[in-house]
Amino acid sequence: MFPNVDFTTTQAYKYLADHYITVNEKSLKQLFAEDADRFAKFSVQLDDILLDFSKNRITDETIALLIQLANECQLREAIDAMFAGEKINVTEGRQVLHTALRNQSNEPVLIDGQDVMPQVKSVLAHMKDFTERILSGEWKGFTGKEITDVVNIGIGGSDLGPVMVTEALKAYKTRLNLHFVSNVDGIHIAETLKDLNPETTLFLIASKTFTTQETMANAQSAKNWFLEAGAVSADVAKHFAALSTNEEGVAAFGIDTQNMFEFWDWVGGRYSLWSAIGLSISLGIGYDNFEELLNGAHSADKHFRETEFEQNIPVILALLGIWYNNFFDAESHAILPYDQYLHRFAAYFQQGDMESNGKYVDRNGNRVDYQTGPIIWGEPGTNGQHAFYQLIHQGTKLIPCDFIAPAVSLNPLGNHHQLLLSNFFAQTEALMNGKSEEEVVAELEKAGKSPEEIEKLKNFKVFEGNRPTNSFLLKKVTPYTLGTLIALYEHKIFVQGVIWNIFSFDQWGVELGKQLANKILPELVDEQSVSSHDVSTNGLINQYKAWR
Ligand code: F6P
Repeated sequence: MFPNVDFTTTQAYKYLADHYITVNEKSLKQLFAEDADRFAKFSVQLDDILLDFSKNRITDETIALLIQLANECQLREAIDAMFAGEKINVTEGRQVLHTALRNQSNEPVLIDGQDVMPQVKSVLAHMKDFTERILSGEWKGFTGKEITDVVNIGIGGSDLGPVMVTEALKAYKTRLNLHFVSNVDGIHIAETLKDLNPETTLFLIASKTFTTQETMANAQSAKNWFLEAGAVSADVAKHFAALSTNEEGVAAFGIDTQNMFEFWDWVGGRYSLWSAIGLSISLGIGYDNFEELLNGAHSADKHFRETEFEQNIPVILALLGIWYNNFFDAESHAILPYDQYLHRFAAYFQQGDMESNGKYVDRNGNRVDYQTGPIIWGEPGTNGQHAFYQLIHQGTKLIPCDFIAPAVSLNPLGNHHQLLLSNFFAQTEALMNGKSEEEVVAELEKAGKSPEEIEKLKNFKVFEGNRPTNSFLLKKVTPYTLGTLIALYEHKIFVQGVIWNIFSFDQWGVELGKQLANKILPELVDEQSVSSHDVSTNGLINQYKAWR
């Protein structure tokens, strides 16, 4: 049974509330001075990934109490329920089994007594075969030419994962040029198609439901563009493939179901890059590298399932997040990769985390009286340092941050990587230690400032410090390591949903806007003024009609 516990009624929560008062009085600097073993105690390694979480506002007791909280919320039972294929996505009546997509263990994964692994392996074999035929040039377009460009048309989970991963693994690129179209704004597809040749372009229509307005509109425009170039309907089979759970919808659109790569309703959209939705990844970096990504994720799954909570990376990350979110009242969490290839990593987890845990109704259908999912944001370092780090260092908000960097650069160039990593190390140290008034005064004196000048300036130059960070040091960005890292973050989101007692795998919050847009769309067709909405919406629509 999936647990259903209000975490604010647990013993651990009460202890944590008291414990918070003690910890809040201490600075990270003090905590490090009191305990020389912090790094050894508060760091974990999994394969080629080291997580140092020692620069958090925690003591041994904090960790013990947070783990007690996890136990009282029956986290172990929840993990087992997910992996066992219970219908933990209750409001949609579905299992949550993206872990089966990367299951390398030969263990069956049962849904209603039926092993899903043969289906999973058969789609992977189809993806492998297709990838190899496209890459070898055996697959020809309608005029007999090889495919050179692949356009993935999808949105949300059918776009963000493939974009993030293919950008992150660009160093492993095949000969194909990848393009991604997601926005319903015609600019996106029009600009993408401008540089492409219909004879050598393959479209992947990526949509779990095959009904999403944006994707269907873009897919139709792509098909029109293709047919206008002199191709006939029979040629569509050579240039369009579908990645979907909806066979009927795919056939109705005119895509040969031989070119359909299936997945299943037990794969959530934002957890689907491991499924057929990953076909653009396989084409973009080669099937073997795609398989390595799956292997890496499987390693994280095993770690999550089998490791005690004290050493369990997703559990630790999740509990630290809860510590700041629910006791320190932190509102957001920043993800800051020091790796240009990972420039879409934070954007990817905006959907992963915020669509999963941005919910105010608990598992009993009641409004919660505590905070749930934080705002996730971030940009690569060092660019962020010259933009928003000012607020992280000296603003009034507490922003816990994850710093991520590879030890080995995939583009060794002069001393660039050392410059980058010196910033990576410096930032977490600066956020932790800050700069005291004495240090500021000494620095200003050394620079020859007068006592009056020093008095005027010093407060602005002091850094309180005490800003918590996690540091992920990866050996190198490889498909395997990236797969592990993504899966660790996925499981963090799951753990937080369990503790907050919300359903992390539905997304009803995106429906209302879609419904209203469908209602408004027919009102935009003619020139008649509208009066069916509130005065603001009427006013905006009518001005739009006047100006267009
Ligand atoms: O934004 C809502 C959502 O349903 C996401 O959860 C999903 O990833 C996205 O739309 C795309 O859905 P589909 O793959 O069905 O087109």
